[in-house]
Formats: sequence, C-alpha cells, structure tokens
Amino acid sequence: MKYDVKNLGLAGKGRLRIEWANEYMNVLTLVRKHFKKEKPLKGLKIAACLHVTTETANLVYTLKEGGADVVLCASNPLSTQDDVAASLVKDFKIPAFAIKGEDNKTYYSHINSALDTKPNITMDDGADLVSTVQKSRADLVRYIIGGTEETTTGVIRLKSLEKQKMLRYPIIAVNEALTKHLFDNRYGTGQSTIDGIVRATNVLLSGSNFVVCGYGWCGRGLAMRARGMGANVTIVEIDPLKALEAVMDGYTVAPIKDACKKADVIVTLTGDINVIRKEHFETMKDGTIVANSGHFNVEIDIPALEKIAVKKRTVRDFVEEYTLKSGKRVNLLGEGRLINLASAEGHPASVMDMSFANQALACEYIAKNYKKLERKVYEVPEFIDKNIAKLKLESLGVKIDTLTEEQKKYLESWEMGT
Ligand code: ADE
Repeated sequence: MKYDVKNLGLAGKGRLRIEWANEYMNVLTLVRKHFKKEKPLKGLKIAACLHVTTETANLVYTLKEGGADVVLCASNPLSTQDDVAASLVKDFKIPAFAIKGEDNKTYYSHINSALDTKPNITMDDGADLVSTVQKSRADLVRYIIGGTEETTTGVIRLKSLEKQKMLRYPIIAVNEALTKHLFDNRYGTGQSTIDGIVRATNVLLSGSNFVVCGYGWCGRGLAMRARGMGANVTIVEIDPLKALEAVMDGYTVAPIKDACKKADVIVTLTGDINVIRKEHFETMKDGTIVANSGHFNVEIDIPALEKIAVKKRTVRDFVEEYTLKSGKRVNLLGEGRLINLASAEGHPASVMDMSFANQALACEYIAKNYKKLERKVYEVPEFIDKNIAKLKLESLGVKIDTLTEEQKKYLESWEMGT
C-alpha cells in the first residue's frame, strides 16, 4: 500500500481521537451499519480530497465498510491532523497522502497520488480533484461515474465549469443539502473559528471590536458566536439583502475601509479574493489580529502585506507578526489559511456527522443512479436530506409532532378562509 504521512508512530493517539469523534457521529454510524450489510459501494474506487481530521477518518472508514476502495489526500496544506493520517494507514489500512504544513508541490503531488488509483468517484472539499482532472488528468474521466463536493467554494467552481459546458461528469453538491450548510457552515464554522482564533492567540473577545467579512452561513455563525462571547461585531458585506439582514439581526454594518480602522480582530469568510488589501493593513490599529476562515488562502492579500512590512517574525504558533513602516503591527493567523483547521480541530464531530452522512449517502446515490445522471451539478435528493434531519433528531432524543389528518387536509385545500 502506498501512502505518505508524517509519522506512523502517531497512530495510537489518532485512533483514540477517531473513536472519540465517532461517539458524536450517530447518523454516520447508522449509515455505516447499513453500508456494512448492503455493501452499496462494492467494487468502486473512491478518491477523497478532504481535510484529514478525526471526522473525515470516520467517513472514509464508512465508505470502506460500504465495499469501496478508498484513498484520502488533504484538501488543504495546513488542515491535516498527522495522528489521524497515521492511524488511517496503520489501523484502518486506508492509504492517506497528507502531511500538515506540506508545501504546494507536495500538496498537488498528494492529489495526483490519489488520482493515480483511477477512482470511479471523486469526493472533493474545494474541487481540487475535479480541477486537477480537468487541467492535467483528463485521461481519468473514462473511469469516473460521478463526484461529490463538500463546500461552498467548490460548488461555485463546479457551477462555473458547468456553465462553461466543461464539467466532465455529474457532481452531487453536498454543501447544498440543508442538513449540511444550515448546520456545518453556521454552527460548525461559528464555533470552530472562534476556537481557532482563541487557541492561536488566547485573546479576550469580550469587549473587542470583531469584524466579520461575509454574511453567508459561515459569517452568520461566526458573528453569532462572537457576539455571544461579548464582542462588538461589525459585518462587512457586498450583497444588499444580506447586509440588510445583518442590520436587522442587530449588527453594525460598515464598508471594509471603515471597519478595518477599529478592528481588534478581523476575519474573512467571503469565498472571494483580496478582501483585505494593502490600503486596509495601513489603516489598522497596532496589533490587529487578521484571520481567514474561508476555503482558500486568497481572501487576505498576503503578498501585499509582505511587501509593505519592514519586519516579520513568528510570535506564537500560527501567529506571524508583521511590522509596517509606521511601526504598527499586524498579526496574521495561520498563514491566511482556514484558521478553524489550522490552529484548531475544525468543526465538532456532531455537526460533521450530518455533512458526512450526506457525503456517504450521495456516493450510494451515485452508485445506484449514475447512468441517469448528466454532466451537471446536482443537489442532494430531498429524501436523503430529510432522512438525515430525522435521524439526527432521533439520535439527540428530540421528539417532534406530526400533522393530524384534518391539518393535512387543510394544507392541501384552498377553500377555507377566516
Ligand atoms: N471542515 C470543517 N471542519 C471539518 C472537520 N472537522 N473535518 C473535516 N472537514 C471539516
């Protein structure tokens, strides 16, 4: 078995942590039981390019139990948990290609190693497998029956491929499932981003000026949690509707150039490029903490910061202090990579449970339906999404009501008014 991990000696710790996460992944555990019995993925090779975390380990193990041959590579150079990668190889016999802190060349060589297995299904978080197949491995298209995509940024890239009629095989956009983005993006990102910032800096959020760039589901989650910690939260948005929601949710809304001047902590989660630029760094207060929790490390213009800085030093793990000509300092966290996975452990298992149940069931759906699917980006079928919500509620011990016959009838009719 080929693999590339930091140190197999870390496997023991990784295994314990994987087991710990599994305790909180009840829906995925049910899927695993079903997979073990029915083997819906038998004979299929799956290449997964995901953040290599304890939660991901439980997902790839589930796919293996479903009969698939699985290989895993990292979807970000800084998000890998080396003990998990080691345990996957040693204990689960699942090949992993991932080392925390790997350079860009190694990152893409790991992606290519995963693709060398000639997968039938690609599973992406950010669309790097699909885009690598597109750019340089088109010969593999003939083996591929479909793919899945985990995140907003990946779905945007794939829809752009679809629009240009360049998408080579069907994709299920797992991010679009309600049981994914309403929970993972909102509550997962909200908590784990605060966790990452606090672990990296140990800063007190109470009373701080905390700026959130982007009021999508991730931004909303972060704003909500920062407010909960006692911060004064300002939202930066370009979409009038989202900005209006932020206003009515009780936040200050301001353009980035104004928000930057007062910020103690500023976080990007927009999915777009160069949100924080040279002119913004120059007007920040001394010691401003700048972090990103969006998928790619493009939201903060780091090359511009490097250029205007007269001095740079690592002051703590995951904290680079840049001193500008004026003498003011900017503290950049985690090289501008997603801080929730760089300095913390990513979203908690209980929320990844639903995201990854969607991933596993989307694979089963592809295996059963690929002949009917076109080269399009599809949503997760509603029956899968609803079932995951139902199972999650059950696992949490929460009971809900059902409609009476009279209520059902009322909803289907138009005759009755006041
Ligand atoms: N994305 C965000 N958090 C994650 C986690 N814990 N595992 C895998 N992918 C993630």
